[in-house]
Amino acid sequence: MSVQLSFYVHIPYCVKRCGYCDFNTYTPSQLLEGATLETVSGDYIDAMLREVEIARISAPGSVPTIFFGGGTPSLLPAHDLGRVITAIKSGWEVDGDCEITLEANPDSVDATKLAQFREAGFNRVSFGMQSAVPHVLATLDRTHNPENVARAVEAARAAGFSSVSVDLIYGTPGESLADWRTSVESALSLGVDHISAYALIVEAGTKLANQIKRGELSMPDDDVMADMYLLVDQLANDAGLSWYELSNWSKPGHESRHNVAYWKNANWWGLGPGAHSHRDGVRWWNIKHPTAYKSALFAGTTVIAESETLTASQLADEAIMLQIRMREGIALSKLSADQISRIEAYSQTGHLDKERWLKGTLQLTPSGRLIADRIVRELVV
Ligand SMILES: C[S@@+](CC[C@H](N)C(=O)[O-])C[C@H]1O[C@@H](n2cnc3c(N)ncnc32)[C@H](O)[C@@H]1O
Ligand code: SF4
Repeated sequence: MSVQLSFYVHIPYCVKRCGYCDFNTYTPSQLLEGATLETVSGDYIDAMLREVEIARISAPGSVPTIFFGGGTPSLLPAHDLGRVITAIKSGWEVDGDCEITLEANPDSVDATKLAQFREAGFNRVSFGMQSAVPHVLATLDRTHNPENVARAVEAARAAGFSSVSVDLIYGTPGESLADWRTSVESALSLGVDHISAYALIVEAGTKLANQIKRGELSMPDDDVMADMYLLVDQLANDAGLSWYELSNWSKPGHESRHNVAYWKNANWWGLGPGAHSHRDGVRWWNIKHPTAYKSALFAGTTVIAESETLTASQLADEAIMLQIRMREGIALSKLSADQISRIEAYSQTGHLDKERWLKGTLQLTPSGRLIADRIVRELVV
């Protein structure tokens, strides 16, 4: 049966591990003592192309979006990432307007490399900016200089990327509301089409978590975090970027179609170690370690670590958790009378848009977005 399938392509390499990050990514020396990026990634794409072939046989159809994430995909040569794009284009129907995103570290690209990525087929780029304030970047243990972001965005425009996004993080220890304003204003002054702003998550076992545990750093309090969220929402709006998902703002027509596919629980295939996939209510995920992933593909054995089939009630709960985060919200006709009565009060307290509620839709207001998790818990009991 022909399916519509988005692709996530995982590139599990970074030059240095940032102190807050627990993504499935490795520095070359973590994988092999004394190794370089070339040594560890040399046959990675060869292995991945074998997984593309497995996907082609089991899920033929069309591909609306491809997203290269990591790790730091922009560290690999453009022609290597281009081999994956070419394989997908030759195995599936891929329209000319297929959104093909590259996650990039501003330090690992220049004008020449960005032009090569465009040539390889990428049309959207998302830079990991995080902050424009040196002491915040230092606490995050980031390697890049804030000025590199402006240079990278300018070079991406010159190379012809049709959509440019930056990722920001708020709530870093020691970050004030004024620092956060500086970062958001600086991102918006670059004229980007899209912003993602995520609250810093302190992941157990990271350098950051240990610094907090030892009392060397402390997290901002919840009220400051709430003010930071409301500030980015207001500044983005003022600059013509409106929210379309809780943590994402864009100019009209520049929403990330790939992420929207996740939030709408569409079908996607995650290529690479640890990558998750979803097809028609079945989820599976790959072996986590890049070396084991490559070995399995070269040996012709499965790379799937585990899978699960979601029940109808799990699917319904997930749809609520994902859709409530989106601007279009949830049609009240999709909720039971019981669910509606449990959350009705929020339409009187300013957390749900009253006008939309009266017209039959649950849509969060800015203050409602701050308590989205609480409202979800009322709906999914
Ligand atoms: C794979 S990284 C992006 C590309 C590139 N590796 C970089 O960092 O510039 C994806 C994004 O995840 C976010 N991220 C990673 N760890 C996080 C954490 N603990 N809390 C909040 N956001 C996090 C960062 O905003 C980062 O830009
Ligand atoms: S935040 Fe990005 S650059 Fe830093 S370790 Fe994580 S994936 Fe690598």
